[in-house]
Amino acid sequence: MTALNSAVVTGAASGIGRAIAEQLHRDGRAVVLVDLDADKLSAAVAQFGAGAVAVVGDVSAPSTHHQALAAAAELGDLDAWVNCAGITHNHPLPQLTAAQADLVIDTNLYGTLWGTQTAVGHWLAEGRGGAIVNISSVHGRRAYPDHAVYEMTKAAIEALTRNVGVTYAAAGIRANAVAPGAITTEALEESIASAADPSAAEAELTEFIPAGRLGEPGEIAAVVAFLLSDQTGYLTGQTLVVDGAMTAHIGFAPDPNAKRPQ
Ligand SMILES: NC(=O)c1ccc[n+]([C@@H]2O[C@H](COP(=O)([O-])OP(=O)(O)OC[C@H]3O[C@@H](n4cnc5c(N)ncnc54)[C@H](O)[C@@H]3O)[C@@H](O)[C@H]2O)c1
Repeated sequence: MTALNSAVVTGAASGIGRAIAEQLHRDGRAVVLVDLDADKLSAAVAQFGAGAVAVVGDVSAPSTHHQALAAAAELGDLDAWVNCAGITHNHPLPQLTAAQADLVIDTNLYGTLWGTQTAVGHWLAEGRGGAIVNISSVHGRRAYPDHAVYEMTKAAIEALTRNVGVTYAAAGIRANAVAPGAITTEALEESIASAADPSAAEAELTEFIPAGRLGEPGEIAAVVAFLLSDQTGYLTGQTLVVDGAMTAHIGFAPDPNAKRPQ
C-alpha cells in the first residue's frame, strides 16, 4: 500500500491558510494545521474530518514546527510545507515601538524561516525531496504608507525562498513564494472595517485592481496546490504574484462601468 502524502500548513485556522489546507486535504493529502488560535483550529480540523490534525502553537518558536513535523510524519510521507501564518500591522515609523516591530518580524519572518528550516532539514535527513510555498504579499515589492515593517518581512520571505531554491535544487527540494494581492479574509475585512469610511476604503482598494474585484482565498489556494504539485517540478526559487494585475499596471484606473463576466 502506498503511504499517504502529508503536508503542513501554518496559519491554517483562518483565511488563506485555511483555504490552502482545505485544498490540499481535498486533493488527497493528510494535513497538519498549525495556528495560535486553538478554537478556530479545532473547528477547522473537525470540519475536515479524517486526515487532519491540529498543532496549536506560535510559529515564531522552532518547537512549534518540530511538533508539526512529527505530526505530519505520523500521518504520511511529508512532501509539502506551506508557511502562511502572518500578521499585518501598520505603524508610522516615528511611533513604532520595538515590541510592535518584534511581533511582526517574529511572526512573519522567523515563523517562515523556522518552518522552512524544519522542512528542509527533514528532507535532507531523509534523502528525499519536497516542496515549500511561502506566503509573501504584493507588499514584498511595492510600498504602501506606514507598512514598512510588514513590507520588510515580506521582501525577506522572498529572499529566503530564492536562497532555498538555489541551495537545495540539487537535493530535489523546491521553494516558491506566492504574493497575494487583496484577498477577502477576516484580516482584510477587519482592516477595511476599521477605516474611517469602510465603503470608501474598499472602493479605493478595488479601484486599482484591473480585475475589478478583490480575490478569494480559494484562488490563492489553487495556485499554492499547483506549485506544490509534480507539474511544477522545474519551478523553484520564484515568487508568483496573484493579484488581479494590481501590481502589473503603470497608473491605470479600471473603467468602473466595464462589462465583466459574472
Ligand atoms: N488577505 C490578504 O489580502 C493578504 C494579502 C497578501 C498577503 N497575505 C498574507 O497571507 C497570510 C494569511 O493572511 P490572511 O489574510 O489569511 O490572515 P488571517 O488573519 O485570516 O489568517 C492568519 C492566521 O495566522 C494565525 N497566526 C497569526 N500569528 C500567528 C503565530 N505567531 N503563530 C501561529 N499562527 C499565527 C492567525 O491566528 C490566523 O489564523 C499572511 O501571511 C498575510 O500576510 C494576505
